[in-house]
Amino acid sequence: MTNETIEVIMRRRSIRDYKPDQIEEEKLQIILEAAKFAPNAGGRQLWHFTVIQNKKVIEDMVEKMINVIKQSGNENLQKKISNPDYHTFYNAPTVIVVSGAENARLIEIDCAAATENMLIAAESMGISSCWIGSAELVLSDENVKKTLGIPAGYKPLYAVSLGYSATKDKEQPVPRKENTVNFVR
Ligand SMILES: Cc1cc2nc3c(=O)[nH]c(=O)nc-3n(C[C@H](O)[C@H](O)[C@H](O)COP(=O)(O)O)c2cc1C
Repeated sequence: MTNETIEVIMRRRSIRDYKPDQIEEEKLQIILEAAKFAPNAGGRQLWHFTVIQNKKVIEDMVEKMINVIKQSGNENLQKKISNPDYHTFYNAPTVIVVSGAENARLIEIDCAAATENMLIAAESMGISSCWIGSAELVLSDENVKKTLGIPAGYKPLYAVSLGYSATKDKEQPVPRKENTVNFVR
């Protein structure tokens, strides 16, 4: 048995190549509503969403990210930036940053739930996405936080790239591990 919701969940893939076409405003608003309707501890809704659709701002963040990676000891990321096509957000026309209130218990979990809701909502409307956890390296920069208008008392946690896939048909699902479930009946 299946239904549209299950099909969307199974169909979603992290997409790492986008067409330059911007996503429709109406779809963007639905994605943001879906984020805000995520479950959150105590119903506090201590999250904030920053929509970035300014190419220069996105490119500046990528440049800063490359500099941060160069100075970090992260070999995995250093290998990635050695690729001349490296782009933190894979050239997506829209990036959404998810921030959470500093010192709020369980806030990462709330923000992760909101992030997943955005990915699923986007997929349901034919918009592709990728969760960009590594962006935290550049989002913690005070100048970047200022440029993005992150409210005082909030820390940026995750970024999501959104756009129309340039590769979707070629993407194969990442195989899922076996033996990650047990039953007590
Ligand atoms: C917390 C988190 C952080 C992630 N960070 C990145 C990232 O920085 N860059 C990236 O390309 N993908 C990132 N991903 C995407 C994962 O690599 C991807 O979800 C995983 O390989 C499974 O593939 P799928 O999403 O296509 O099913 C992240 C995913 C999660 C949940």
